[in-house]
Amino acid sequence: MRLARTADLWWKNAVIYCLDVETFFDSDGDGRGDFRGLCQRVDHLHELGVTCLWLMPFYPTPDRDDGYDITDFYGVDRRLGTHGDLVEFLRLARDRGMRVIVDLVVNHTSDQHPWFRAARSSPDSPYRDFYVWRSEPPPDGPSGVVFPDKEDSLWQYDDEAGEYYLHRFYKHQPDLNVASPAVRDEIARVMGFWLELGVSGFRVDAVPFLLETAGALDAGDLPDPHDYLRDLRAFLSRRAGEAVLLGEVNLPYPDLRRFFGDEDGDELTMCFDFPGMQSLYLALARGDAAPLATALRERPAAPKDGHWATFVRNHDELTLDKLSDDERAEVFAAFGPDPAMQLYGRGLRRRLPSMLGGDQARLRLAYSLLFTLPGTPTLFYGEEIGMAENLAAEGRLAVRTPMQWTDGPGGGFSTAAPNQLAGPVVEGAFGPANVNVATQRDDPESLLSWFTGIIRQYRRCPEFAWGTCVILDCPGSSAAFAHRADLDGQTVVAVHNLGKEPITVHLPLAGADRGTRLATLAGAHQATDDLVTGDDGRVELSLDGYGFCWLRVRPPHPGG
Ligand code: NOJ
Repeated sequence: MRLARTADLWWKNAVIYCLDVETFFDSDGDGRGDFRGLCQRVDHLHELGVTCLWLMPFYPTPDRDDGYDITDFYGVDRRLGTHGDLVEFLRLARDRGMRVIVDLVVNHTSDQHPWFRAARSSPDSPYRDFYVWRSEPPPDGPSGVVFPDKEDSLWQYDDEAGEYYLHRFYKHQPDLNVASPAVRDEIARVMGFWLELGVSGFRVDAVPFLLETAGALDAGDLPDPHDYLRDLRAFLSRRAGEAVLLGEVNLPYPDLRRFFGDEDGDELTMCFDFPGMQSLYLALARGDAAPLATALRERPAAPKDGHWATFVRNHDELTLDKLSDDERAEVFAAFGPDPAMQLYGRGLRRRLPSMLGGDQARLRLAYSLLFTLPGTPTLFYGEEIGMAENLAAEGRLAVRTPMQWTDGPGGGFSTAAPNQLAGPVVEGAFGPANVNVATQRDDPESLLSWFTGIIRQYRRCPEFAWGTCVILDCPGSSAAFAHRADLDGQTVVAVHNLGKEPITVHLPLAGADRGTRLATLAGAHQATDDLVTGDDGRVELSLDGYGFCWLRVRPPHPGG
């Protein structure tokens, strides 16, 4: 059914944009972004071509993990606004044709959450079983802590409770016990609440850890945790057929695939492609397409109605944990040699523009890959203007600096004094004086204009999102990455040169008649006319260093 395919499965060719309300736009001059500010900037996102906003946590929080430590899953942090402000924003986004998904962070709560306060106060509390407790000291051994700079154990002794509790992340974030039916009910209620307010689904935080809590105890005869994920998905679909679960699952491909569920995809609708992202960085660092091609070939197909979510940057450290030690060292050497740019021994706390030394051609090459490779492109705020990081900010906050709207004080983010801002503004070459929305909006050559155009083309080429992707051979050039996408008799081709030297490739176009033409949709190759296939069914194409082009295959002219 074609109608249902393109109308209903909106996530397949969406453009997702992740932002933190707190750092986006401050409407009242208190130094923090807020929902009213976001409302004032919705049109920037609409004009860019964003179709789905992912809001990072905006719930009440002591803010010890930038809002991922929550004290009320139903609330809006009063520093960011009220439920009224949030609903106004949802309405405004819907009015512009944009969907909104929100972070669902239910692996853990803040230790200030009323549930945890009650749980620790007495073994008889109805909330005791909401968390995972042990009376014995945890055994020594590999700890599996996520933030090794701050934690050295998954277990924390609580004086008040007289027991140890499990915390996969910081010790102030006790893990919820999803084996408890009462916890499962609460999670469903939370989802039901936000769905009623009109969100189109959830970015689900730390999915493997969320499911793992049951296993952390004596799992005994607890049901398969994937049954629980299936239940969550079924619940979501009953409540809102168009809603999605977009999961954070940073695992190797074979393990990751399990989180999509069965062939029909009855668990997560989408999973972030962490291994693919890491291979992209290795390929960029080497100027060699092979790591990317290998990753794509190894990547399991998502279920029919599911999709991978692809990204260049997210809000955390740019993790390179799935690369080998040598590969990671290569990427560190190329893009973040200074230890201050690295984090947890596995990632980088830089954004792409600074990693590439501001090279505009190379930057566009990377994002062209993002928009053409199969998967839903997911942007992190500021990527559209080429924002970099501020290494003076602590840890992962280096890439969560205020959005740069103008070249004025505070980047136009807020009228508050610099020391009152939600985070330090980027300084230097990538600071607001050189990188901001207002200047780029009026410049047809700017990165922002380029992003707007490439997103328009991406939306016009459903083949990339919906079609069958085939990687094409490019003999003789290890820097070339070429692929075609076919859908309903239509074909588009994208060719990327990951190297700095110009290249010429002879692309095989199986099934193409002699004289088949390839019209340029985006980017540029060195010929001035359309490309035409020769007798051998191949087309010759030359690209500048870091060049790329998107081509639409058209039948030969009648009569040759
Ligand atoms: C994953 C999120 O991406 C990260 O930012 C957060 O610190 C942890 N989950 C804990 O919630």
